[in-house]
Amino acid sequence: MLAGGHGTRLRPLTFTGNKHMIPIANQPILFYSLRHLANAGIRDVAIVLGPIEEGIREAVGDGSKFGLRVEYIVQGDPRGLAHAVLCSREYLGSEPFLMYLGDNLLQTGVTQFVDRFRQVAPDAVVGATPVTRPQGYGVVELSGDQIVSIEEKPTRPRSNLALIGVYLFTEAIHPIVGSLTPSRRGELEITDAIWRLWQTRQRVSVIPVSGWWKDTGHPDDLIEANELVLQSMPPESFRIEGVVPPGAHIEGPVAIGPGTVVDSNVKIVGPVVIGSDVQIGSGSEIGPNCAIGNRAFLDRATVRRSVVLEGARIDRVSVTDSLIGRNVEVRASRPTPHEFTLVIGDSSRILL
Ligand code: G1P
Repeated sequence: MLAGGHGTRLRPLTFTGNKHMIPIANQPILFYSLRHLANAGIRDVAIVLGPIEEGIREAVGDGSKFGLRVEYIVQGDPRGLAHAVLCSREYLGSEPFLMYLGDNLLQTGVTQFVDRFRQVAPDAVVGATPVTRPQGYGVVELSGDQIVSIEEKPTRPRSNLALIGVYLFTEAIHPIVGSLTPSRRGELEITDAIWRLWQTRQRVSVIPVSGWWKDTGHPDDLIEANELVLQSMPPESFRIEGVVPPGAHIEGPVAIGPGTVVDSNVKIVGPVVIGSDVQIGSGSEIGPNCAIGNRAFLDRATVRRSVVLEGARIDRVSVTDSLIGRNVEVRASRPTPHEFTLVIGDSSRILL
């Protein structure tokens, strides 16, 4: 519940595209956002689904396992974030709302944004953080706490401050999103709506993000987010439930799920999470900073700083900084001294 001058409820929307069920430390990215919303005291959530639903309805259901009441809004033809707000107009009514992009991951959750919204009662709260490649984001230029410009994916960015994917709005945003025209990439941009909100003298509060933030849209960011999450997991979340013989070398925080069998001649250096029913054969080395999904099969494999999804098989191959999709097979006919960096989509087969 959000009390104060902005109505009694804060209705969050979580937007999904096509990468929100990819696991980070073996949990779908979307689950982190849902927990953040629950931790910020929010109860009612609408998930806006794009054309690829990714099994989100099945995985999240009515939201009760997150302490949330979840509804679904089908965006149909995905024409941008502001278009998703338009599609949610009826659900949102005149209430303020929080919009959280389902592929964004924040170390400290969304409480800081909700607190600012409650304290300052502006028309919008947005978060900004310095990035090395601002061209890939919405970019805000500030002078003190005043906004000078806001642009979506500018070719010549005027600052290095990226807008992150957490936004709080009052109903003042609705007439603006209704009047937008498509951007260069053909989308109704929420960034353009925020700029118009500011230009029409509405109050937009920009707050710096504390802790790390990742937009996991690119494989490199996803691998980095996996590393950051693994490194910030509390020690009690690393439990060994599978079978680990005395001869196996386990060092640092390592989680091994039920039904997983590790051979004796295996080295695992944490932080590493390994799902259930995984087989890790002799001569394999895993870690640090790896997540291995359920039912994966590794034999004489070396895996460092990588995300391996469920059912993947890696045989006699060394990979680092890699994203290996579901049910992928990577195999070498004989051991190779090379270490590969691979980004492989689901169900692919690679013979080296
Ligand atoms: C979207 C927004 C962009 C913002 C980014 C944060 O970009 O349009 O302004 O900086 O999310 O993740 P997109 O994911 O659509 O490229």
